[in-house]
Amino acid sequence: MKPDPTAFQVVLVLPDNDDERSILVGREEHIWDAAFKAGIVLPALCHQGRCLTCAGRLDGPGNVDQSDSVDYYPQDRESGFVLLCTGKPRSALRIRTHQQNEMRQHRIQNRRAAPYS
Ligand code: FES
Repeated sequence: MKPDPTAFQVVLVLPDNDDERSILVGREEHIWDAAFKAGIVLPALCHQGRCLTCAGRLDGPGNVDQSDSVDYYPQDRESGFVLLCTGKPRSALRIRTHQQNEMRQHRIQNRRAAPYS
């Protein structure tokens, strides 16, 4: 079977013993939604790319389209933080989930919006 060029493999590294789950995420699909469809319920509140509750962090190289997010800054990208509720894959990815505290700290250090801090 040929690989689907419109979807990417995304490995989610979950906090429980670094449990890994691999899912397929469509180019126009939000990573959070694809995880939910696969039975993985990740943290989320706003689903708009604003509150940081769904934050993850890239574990290795990769590219995520965050154009659907209300607030996403170049510093977030430089540090590998991603918002899963509004992030769409543009490459295969490996993402450490449950990074909301880390991303809020990062935003505070960069003097950017950090809701619920
Ligand atoms: S759920 Fe609020 S930023 Fe993703």
